[in-house]
Amino acid sequence: MDRKTNIVLIGFMGSGKTTIGTNLAYKLKYSFVDSDDKIVQKMNMSINKIFEIYGEDYFRNLEYDIVRNISKLNKQIISTGGGIIKNKNNIYELKKNGIILYLKASPEHIYSNIKDDTNRPLLQCDNKMEAIKALLNQREFLYKEYCDIIVDVSNNTVDSIVDNIINSIGGKYF
Ligand code: S3P
Repeated sequence: MDRKTNIVLIGFMGSGKTTIGTNLAYKLKYSFVDSDDKIVQKMNMSINKIFEIYGEDYFRNLEYDIVRNISKLNKQIISTGGGIIKNKNNIYELKKNGIILYLKASPEHIYSNIKDDTNRPLLQCDNKMEAIKALLNQREFLYKEYCDIIVDVSNNTVDSIVDNIINSIGGKYF
């Protein structure tokens, strides 16, 4: 069987997928792709605006289209939006040529990363901590179910997380 050549990062908003992904890509000399960036480029519109004008279902369809396209390429670190697990077909596509890593972060860690953020429509509310906990509660079992490997990101530096990832999957996948 051919080896899978993509590394796919899934996890909640603010878990560090973009930061860890770009660093991982740099070290492995892989290209880095972010599904949200592709959606923004395609629509020439921010994620907030897409949600506001077209709604979440429309955004999820765009997300699926992007996933189907990027899953076809090789040697990429693919950073996904936190809601990627809402559609099982996304995971089916990403798994064809990718190993799925769940970046597992505590609500506190997530909160410290996104507390001042205004670009995540699903967390624009008065009590962000409560919103994070509620959404994480709904989603965590899916992140765990769909991933191949869990990477704990709450109490580690980016460098050590990236090294851990490379050490733990290096021999098996690339
Ligand atoms: C979402 C996460 C966001 C973005 C959109 C919806 C979600 O991506 O796709 O705001 O449903 O969790 P990040 O996880 O990169 O913030």
